[in-house]
Amino acid sequence: MAIQTVTVVGAGNMGSGIAQAFASGGFKVTLNDVSAEAVAKGLERIRKPLEKRVAEGKMPQADLDALLSRLTPQPDLKAAVADADLVIEAVFEDLKVKQELFAKLDGLAPAKTLLATNTSSFYVKDLAAVTKRADRVVGLHFFFPAAVNKLLEVVKGPATSQASADAAYAAGKKAGKSCVATADAPGFAVNRFFVPWINEACRLLDEGAATLPTIEAAAKEAFGITMGPFELMNVTGVPISLHAQSTLHKQLGAFYEPAKGLKAQVDKKANWDLAGPVEDAKKPLVAARLRGVVFGIACHLVEEKVCTLRDTDRGATIGLRWAAGPFAMMNKLGAKQALAEVKALSDKWGKAFAMPMTLAEHAAANKAWHLPTVTLEMLDGGHLALVTFDRPEALNALNETVLHDLDAVLANVEKAKPRAVILTGEGKAFIAGADIPTMRAHDVAGARAYTALGNRVLDRIAALPCPVLMAINGFALGGGLELALAGDLLYASEKAQLGLPEVGLGIHPGFGGTQRLPRRIGIGKAKEIVYAGKTVGAKEALAIGLVDGVVAPDALMDHCLAVARAIASKAPLAVAGAKTSMDHGTETGLAAGLRIEQESVALLFATKDKDEGMDAFLQKRAAQFQGR
Ligand code: CAA
Repeated sequence: MAIQTVTVVGAGNMGSGIAQAFASGGFKVTLNDVSAEAVAKGLERIRKPLEKRVAEGKMPQADLDALLSRLTPQPDLKAAVADADLVIEAVFEDLKVKQELFAKLDGLAPAKTLLATNTSSFYVKDLAAVTKRADRVVGLHFFFPAAVNKLLEVVKGPATSQASADAAYAAGKKAGKSCVATADAPGFAVNRFFVPWINEACRLLDEGAATLPTIEAAAKEAFGITMGPFELMNVTGVPISLHAQSTLHKQLGAFYEPAKGLKAQVDKKANWDLAGPVEDAKKPLVAARLRGVVFGIACHLVEEKVCTLRDTDRGATIGLRWAAGPFAMMNKLGAKQALAEVKALSDKWGKAFAMPMTLAEHAAANKAWHLPTVTLEMLDGGHLALVTFDRPEALNALNETVLHDLDAVLANVEKAKPRAVILTGEGKAFIAGADIPTMRAHDVAGARAYTALGNRVLDRIAALPCPVLMAINGFALGGGLELALAGDLLYASEKAQLGLPEVGLGIHPGFGGTQRLPRRIGIGKAKEIVYAGKTVGAKEALAIGLVDGVVAPDALMDHCLAVARAIASKAPLAVAGAKTSMDHGTETGLAAGLRIEQESVALLFATKDKDEGMDAFLQKRAAQFQGR
């Protein structure tokens, strides 16, 4: 279920932003609204700011032209959805309006079409219920401003099929979003803690616990943000916060009741007055209350399996731009302190804000939350595995935790048996090497154990039966380049920097750099790089055969996916046999290598895929390989 054409219904701020995101992700996008004027206004909302970017030299005119050429205005709903793989509804936040639209869309859109809602407050299941395709209804919850904010919650309703959720997730990724998978629960993941965080700020004000500027200042410091809750409400609209909190209240009970002051402010139809004195002494109390709300709810989300621990944190850092997610904050503060802050609220609210069991357990054991530093996403119905190094604050440097997390991910990859694997890094680096503070602390025995661990994990990559592609998005230095060299195909972003700087640290490469690099680029060039601790740019890396392709940064993942998909469309056992023949055969003499190849190809004649491939050729049809 690969999505190529997207229709966005509703050309307001949210809808036009969504349309822009998909158009810049290469999709053909149709924009619909109730009238030609409304659609034209939506297109203007996209065009105007981008023209400004072009005028400022921040975007080439050709890119804008290409993006606009992918956008089609279509005020007629029937015509707008006739060819859509995915329809995203971004209309007024009113259940009746949305249900009527979904019933209409169900009648008009082709059977294959996936219907998505951008609701932030209703259940996906309530929209699926008015259609005859509940398995093909998902939630795609974008965050304001939708064209720019990277966060996208992909909501799987109780009847949504895994294939539909996967297809929506893959489309969101292609549109440049960082996707977070959530269950169909009140507020999904982020609004569940973000909206009550705002509400708690209003409660503190109601109680006279601190002045508004004090609450604002304490929130900014504690969460590492530039706007506190009150300024945020002023920017996004105070009534929106009340509406969101009231919805949570209906669904989740007393703790979520809107603060009196919030209601009064909406009645006054005024923004908050941010002026006034900051009482420094009261900031710790305010910070503890706000954190207590967030920590408690974040734990509830994970306990209720609405969202994973890592995705809850990503929701906060990507969607809300907090300096750290709730779990990373708890780790920094210590589980005992986090428990005390949640307990203060739980004591006050009783069952309405129950103490999360997992937090109590972590505090009792004085244990940190495990935030995985390497993640695995299965794409294309399990044919592709995408492994991402996710320690951007240290440029994905390889410490023991990262290596153990990678080892665990590789075990899952082996079990999942994908047809191709892509490895990449979050942020500006692929991997900036082995972790220097970790290495600094090692003696000879420690270094031996550490390099043994690194080599074992890298060998595990090299030994995967399917091709492994490295999407080198930025720095690939030291252990990072060595890890890339354990893959089959290396593709670099134009921004990538590759090198082995170890001799500058008083050591030399220890994760296979002196062995795999000369095998790839020849001994002379390898010595040049290793002896001088040299770093090369992407172009030079291509010229010396270090990488197999150089691609514009935005196109890197698409390029790797295209190569991986081309591989995945072929017979997996044949591809695996070819990999073994090349990897093992080239490590021996020619005669032995030829025998390895001969035996490998002979064994393929026992496979069903050999019959399928050859039958398909003879019957002039596309082959459907099973990997058997
Ligand atoms: N280990 C641990 N932390 C690292 C790291 C590494 N290899 N590389 C970068 N970081 C950290 C930085 O310390 C910094 O952390 P703080 O913000 O807490 O200070 C953060 O990542 C961001 O890095 P910079 O501020 O340095 O980013 P930059 O853009 O200015 O520079 C860089 C980027 C050129 C890659 C630079 O970070 C750098 O030179 N890193 C070290 C690269 C290196 O020498 N790697 C080889 C390690 S040896 C090895 O790998 C041995 C082996 O074979 C087993």
